[in-house]
Amino acid sequence: MENKEYKILFVCLGNICRSPIGECVMQKKAEKNGLTNIKVDSAGLISYHTGEQPDSRMISAGAKKGYFLNHRARKISEQDFYDFDLIIGMDKENVIKLKNICPSPNLRNKIRPASDYFTYENGFDCVPDPYYGSQKDFYKVIELVEDVCDGIIKELI
Ligand code: 4NP
Repeated sequence: MENKEYKILFVCLGNICRSPIGECVMQKKAEKNGLTNIKVDSAGLISYHTGEQPDSRMISAGAKKGYFLNHRARKISEQDFYDFDLIIGMDKENVIKLKNICPSPNLRNKIRPASDYFTYENGFDCVPDPYYGSQKDFYKVIELVEDVCDGIIKELI
């Protein structure tokens, strides 16, 4: 991979559960792999949680796995579609919405479902929304997101 900055944006609905852990896991894995030119951020499709810290259930699940979340929720902006090279939607609805709000047709190829990067058959077709689920679902999100990040790194190096 050449030395140019490569910017990845993780997107989910609220930007308090799945995409902040995506950002954090990707950051850690990029550092571990010496990919210093990768910049990572996350955003949500709704503004309902803007300014909030990640969901406490994800903060605690993440911390147990060595991921320390440091993000404030924000809604995706039009500018994000220009600024980022890769925009990962956590589930199918996220991807549909991202494609709908994408400001230009020639930016749409930046948008990819997280499931495109699964490195093995895991029985999931997306990174499912854990918001109304149990703590177990938050750990499953972390497991899936770790694999997604491995898949992204595999494609980049
Ligand atoms: P996330 O989870 O999209 O992974 O951040 C959700 C957070 C909030 C809501 C839904 C999903 N909500 O409906 O407020």
